Amino acid sequence: MATKTEQDNAVLDRIIGERRSCRKFTREIPADVQVESILHAGLHAPFAAAAIGDNKDYFRRFVVVRNGSKAMKEISPLVFETVLAMAGDLEQAAAKNAQLREKAAGFMNRLAMIKDMGMVPGVGTAPFYIVAAEKRGFPPVEAQSLAHCMENMWLKATALGLGFQIVSITAQMADNPKFCRVLGLESGKWALMGCAVGYPAEKLSPSIRPSVTEVTTWPE
Ligand SMILES: Cc1cc2nc3c(=O)[nH]c(=O)nc-3n(C[C@H](O)[C@H](O)[C@H](O)COP(=O)(O)O)c2cc1C
Repeated sequence: MATKTEQDNAVLDRIIGERRSCRKFTREIPADVQVESILHAGLHAPFAAAAIGDNKDYFRRFVVVRNGSKAMKEISPLVFETVLAMAGDLEQAAAKNAQLREKAAGFMNRLAMIKDMGMVPGVGTAPFYIVAAEKRGFPPVEAQSLAHCMENMWLKATALGLGFQIVSITAQMADNPKFCRVLGLESGKWALMGCAVGYPAEKLSPSIRPSVTEVTTWPE
């Protein structure tokens, strides 16, 4: 019989392998306790203690926006406007810079696709849009802390059989006073990252990556 360590290891490997980006959700609404357990996983992710300093006020916050809520109705056009502004700025910059044009081509296509859709995937396309906020510190490593937080949340969502989609445009909303006001966050004080959570509308294959040996060196 497998030892507890072997069982734990097998379960963790399976969850890591099954973690995928979900971009289509059903209308079924996960229970609030499931959402809370995802947030609990996010809270247990590492944080940049030295950058945050000795602060009694806790440095990580979550805002759970339900689909169809008043808050969702207010923030979705704000996020869409931000995408339009980003696309416009990038198009202007790329028109004058061939190197940027080549480098940003994939991202520009993605922004153009969002423009055509008239909405931002993940904001209003799943039962929950969750914003994680990390207090800005020095050095400014909030984005890294948020990435750890998101990964813990993603693995937990996977373990619960839920779909999870990163909504990275959320980072660009951190200094948007209207967006922050609706979410009850002080604008400029927090770095943000977001994700969409719900039941996946289709089963995705486990993640496919090269083998470890293909991408690893062990220098003498
Ligand atoms: C920093 C970062 C930002 C991302 N932003 C988005 C996003 O805004 N929307 C989205 O659908 N996926 C986003 N993704 C998901 C990636 O596209 C995805 O992880 C990658 O294509 C691999 O697919 P997998 O997650 O299914 O393994 C992001 C991932 C990372 C790490």
